[in-house]
Amino acid sequence: YSLKHLNTFGIDANADKYIFYTSEDELKSIIESDQVRDIPVLILGGGSNLLFVSDFNGVVLHSGIHGVEKVQDNDQEVTIRVGSGVVWDDLVRWSVDNGFYGLENLSIIPGNVGAAPVQNIGAYGVEVKDVIDKVEGLYLKDASHFVISRDECQFDYRQSIFKTSLKGEVVITYVYFRLKKQPGFILDYGSLIDEVNKLGEITLENVRQAVINIRQSKLPDPEEFGNAGSFFKNPVISFTQFLDLQNSFPGIPYFIMEENSLVKIPAGWLIEKCGWKGKSIGNAGVHHKQALVLVNLGNASGNEIIELAERIETDVFNAFSIKLEREVNVVGF
Ligand code: EPU
Repeated sequence: YSLKHLNTFGIDANADKYIFYTSEDELKSIIESDQVRDIPVLILGGGSNLLFVSDFNGVVLHSGIHGVEKVQDNDQEVTIRVGSGVVWDDLVRWSVDNGFYGLENLSIIPGNVGAAPVQNIGAYGVEVKDVIDKVEGLYLKDASHFVISRDECQFDYRQSIFKTSLKGEVVITYVYFRLKKQPGFILDYGSLIDEVNKLGEITLENVRQAVINIRQSKLPDPEEFGNAGSFFKNPVISFTQFLDLQNSFPGIPYFIMEENSLVKIPAGWLIEKCGWKGKSIGNAGVHHKQALVLVNLGNASGNEIIELAERIETDVFNAFSIKLEREVNVVGF
């Protein structure tokens, strides 16, 4: 089964088997049958955070669970239960159209709702953990149902329990979000406020549009050049290491993390400093407007992308003693 159109990197990979389901009941009977027993399972969302380096010798499970349902509604806020197969940005647009606050900074992030909690998607000062109430799904081992609260999700920067102890164990079917009915904008990231001011008043629509404008000016359109957004995480280093680095590179951008005297450094800056921005090896390239994004310039194989990633990792380590961690999930071998 070809996965070429199911991953935004546009890598030509195949899976042994592909199963699409549109309800939790359907998923339950798939798990209870022997179709997914004793074989590797890949849970696919929008395919926007994946890099295939070989064919996948297993079964791909793909959610087509739709629907947005209000489960609680008062003067202050609304709680909604959203199917894992809903396209992320359709949900953001819906929330903006309905005057619900909380998702607007996360506009046009590619992918589906079911994948959002897995890597705790984030942009422009907001992470999805800020609005998630709980997550629902099924265990792969016996199709039993689970509901876990936001606290139990162990959210952190691009991290959650779904990437650690529950990795490969569960399939998310629904995500619950709590959205506010009163304005409460977060506009202190980079030039976001300036971009909003250019558009006029501070409204939900304008914040969404500002985020769209910034993203479209920096990030490549997967229709044009396959990519999976940021290829690496922004590294988090100790304050001591940061001060050393700042000594050698006074212009280094940084973000101090409140909780624990750690400092986040934009990987895009490190990669650009190493001279990689806009460069390529074969069909694998570094985006010319945002060095954190690796792109498929033509018919790149997953391994060509990995080769480029490894060269970048080596150079960044040699220059800054920082080990870049990949944000994208590499699948296959
Ligand atoms: N920078 C450079 N050169 C570059 C890119 C960035 O010097 O080529 C420096 C600049 O100083 C810039 C700073 O890095 O001010 C931050 O850049 P940007 O605002 O583009 O954000 P980022 O840190 O590179 C992160 C997320 C993005 C998210 C943006 C905005 C990660 C791994 N990436 O990127 O998320 O959209 O912030 O909030 O945390 C994604 O995860 O796929 C993604 C696109």
